[in-house]
Amino acid sequence: MKNEKTVYVVLGGTSGIGAELAQQLENENTIVHTASRKTGLDISDEQSVYHYFESIGAIDHLIVTAGSYAPAGKVIDVEISQAKYAFDTKFWGAINAAKHGARYIKKGGSITLTSGMLSRKVVANTYVKAAINTAIEATTKVMAKELAPIRVNAISPGLTKTDAYSGMNEADRNAMYERNQSSLPTGKVGEASDIAKAYRLVIENTYMTGTVVDVDGGALLG
Ligand SMILES: NC(=O)c1ccc[n+]([C@@H]2O[C@H](COP(=O)([O-])OP(=O)(O)OC[C@H]3O[C@@H](n4cnc5c(N)ncnc54)[C@H](OP(=O)(O)O)[C@@H]3O)[C@@H](O)[C@H]2O)c1
Repeated sequence: MKNEKTVYVVLGGTSGIGAELAQQLENENTIVHTASRKTGLDISDEQSVYHYFESIGAIDHLIVTAGSYAPAGKVIDVEISQAKYAFDTKFWGAINAAKHGARYIKKGGSITLTSGMLSRKVVANTYVKAAINTAIEATTKVMAKELAPIRVNAISPGLTKTDAYSGMNEADRNAMYERNQSSLPTGKVGEASDIAKAYRLVIENTYMTGTVVDVDGGALLG
């Protein structure tokens, strides 16, 4: 069929970075599906993810931004059940999505996952995020080989102003943003729009696969 629209699926696209990306992708030549628990999809539930893709059919690009929650704290303090819950959502959710979404991806398509700077910036009390993001980055590269010619990349955001921090009280949140703003080489904390542009880059650039793109204001420079 000529003039076929490009189909995107953004899992986690109802909030924050995913919602901003979905909005940036939206135009008269695209169909953008977003899903999360709000729309009835729990990405940690493999059967639900399987049926979700079955209901959508052929797609061009799959993006996963779901699951910003992970418990903070030292290894000796964090409840293992809470750590596993975070893994079930962000890591196993991404695997569920790639596993069951891949077969629907059309020629020239891609998968883009989301890690985070804590994969490679060593910060005490963040081991759950560090471990999840590292696992996502490693699996991204393995899948880039296994699923070729589907391209598989990951975006690694630094601190970004989104609803992920809506549970903090306002004063603490603003203090966190200000602290980071003054220490980052960019002199600003990321906006969802800054991060969304990186997903568009790896989706559009047909020479990029197995790549982790850092969009962190220079946080990893130390
Ligand atoms: N913001 C940052 O500073 C930052 C930094 C580094 C990395 N990241 C990463 O960037 C990604 C997006 O974060 P964000 O800041 O945009 O977070 P956000 O605003 O909290 O959005 C997270 C999205 O995930 C969905 N979600 C959560 N649990 C889910 C589940 N079980 N099944 C399906 N969807 C689920 C949420 O919708 P429902 O509640 O409706 O399910 C929501 O749409 C995450 O992977 C996060 O770890 C963010």
